[in-house]
Amino acid sequence: MKKIICIAALFAALIIGVQPIVHAKVPSKAYSVKKGMIHFKEPARAKGQTSMLGFAAEPIDTVRVGIIGLGMRGKGPLKRMSFIDGVKIVAICDLYQENINKGQERLAKYGMPRADEYVGEEAWKKLCQRKDINLVYIATDWNSHTPMAVYAMEQGKHVAIEVPAATSVAECWQLVDTSERTRRHCMMLENCVYDHFELTTLNMAQQGLFGEIVHVEGGYVHALDKWWNSYDRNWRLKFNQEHDGDVYATHGLGPICFALNIHRGDRMTHLVSMDTDSWIGKKLAKKSLGTEEFANGDQTSTLIRTHNGKTITLHHNVYTPQPYSREYQLTGTKGFAIKYPIQGISLEHDKMADSGVQNHEDLSSHKFLPEKAFKALMNKYRHPIQKALIEKSKKVGGHGGMDFIMDYRLIYCLRNGLPLDQDVYDAAEWSCIGDLSAASIKHNSMPVAFPDFTRGEWNKLKGHTFAK
Ligand SMILES: NC(=O)c1ccc[n+]([C@@H]2O[C@H](COP(=O)([O-])OP(=O)(O)OC[C@H]3O[C@@H](n4cnc5c(N)ncnc54)[C@H](O)[C@@H]3O)[C@@H](O)[C@H]2O)c1
Repeated sequence: MKKIICIAALFAALIIGVQPIVHAKVPSKAYSVKKGMIHFKEPARAKGQTSMLGFAAEPIDTVRVGIIGLGMRGKGPLKRMSFIDGVKIVAICDLYQENINKGQERLAKYGMPRADEYVGEEAWKKLCQRKDINLVYIATDWNSHTPMAVYAMEQGKHVAIEVPAATSVAECWQLVDTSERTRRHCMMLENCVYDHFELTTLNMAQQGLFGEIVHVEGGYVHALDKWWNSYDRNWRLKFNQEHDGDVYATHGLGPICFALNIHRGDRMTHLVSMDTDSWIGKKLAKKSLGTEEFANGDQTSTLIRTHNGKTITLHHNVYTPQPYSREYQLTGTKGFAIKYPIQGISLEHDKMADSGVQNHEDLSSHKFLPEKAFKALMNKYRHPIQKALIEKSKKVGGHGGMDFIMDYRLIYCLRNGLPLDQDVYDAAEWSCIGDLSAASIKHNSMPVAFPDFTRGEWNKLKGHTFAK
């Protein structure tokens, strides 16, 4: 009966010209509505699990890595790791022999020995089972991230997963629970927290240059028209065809969560989301997937509030033609930083004097600093982890060097037995936006509560630190 009503409603919608809405595949059993707010399930911590906050594993002299997925992204670490001491790529895995061959060529080009090869749909399990691997590095399509990471941790391996680490709240909990149970690191490879402007302005924020940060912005605005056809078997377009919401939030959210000390003194409490209809997505789906339906809106907007009274805005748009932007912005009681479309900083007069940078021009706190003062300030506040790596990172490259700093830090922390820069709770908090925003959109922008992946311990650590 339900099916007949649905079909009738669809026909009625088509006849009167209303666009049928394709809703995200967030199973409605995953959450409930209480007092006008959507709450996703928050399972209690199982016996035998303990928090991974501040977790440090035993130091590893030489980190032996297995890489799964050698597509457009996964070939990058083959080069970058060759510039890092104390790391060996011992195994590589992909669906296609051709990608493996290209990977071997790349290793040879950068003076690295050949790696053992794993080819085929299930070969990654064999790679994870090897006794001699410490770190499994996953750069496959989104749907395979969590199953692979969970399996690898079960085999005693630390894992590093490309973004987003998980595609649903349920998967986020799987990552948290497996990491807590196996005591293995689970880091999402969010490279944008290591970009030069973000690191430098994080340092400024932590030293109080912007006063209290009250509002931050981030986003992922990148027209993928040139790329859609390059993803293996069209996985990305298929995913967006099936899911509405902000499905790729982590590049925008990661750096601003560090600036707000999320789960290190503050936590995101709830969000509301709204999206546009789909125009470009629909056209793409018709051309490449043979369907007229497309769940993901051309533009998705999300507003988040934190426990300490801060706000965050996030945007996702991978469709319309416009300049690339991650919309990075920090708004503080004493200053302001913005990265797109132009980098700029604005400070109150007294903060300008405090910064130790002489500026003889007539400044107004409502204007951006002039170029000379801006450059001087950026140099003065260069983040300590960048200072030693800036030249090398530019030479090695990878999105201007941030990818190299990310891999370097991962290996450095593992070798020295230090907590990683990004923990499993970051991975979960930044990846759950997809499901949360889709649920809000499905219910006419109803507020959605953030699950507390730390299970009440979000205020235990005070501020974000990069371990030394
Ligand atoms: N951090 C960044 O800046 C950034 C940039 C681009 C992509 N990414 C992320 O990297 C990941 C990969 O994206 P991509 O652009 O390289 O996609 P891609 O389609 O080019 O590559 C995916 C690769 O995974 C392999 N693969 C799929 N299933 C597999 C399996 N079962 N076993 C072994 N290999 C398998 C495929 O053969 C393919 O080579 C995605 O999560 C994406 O979001 C991150």
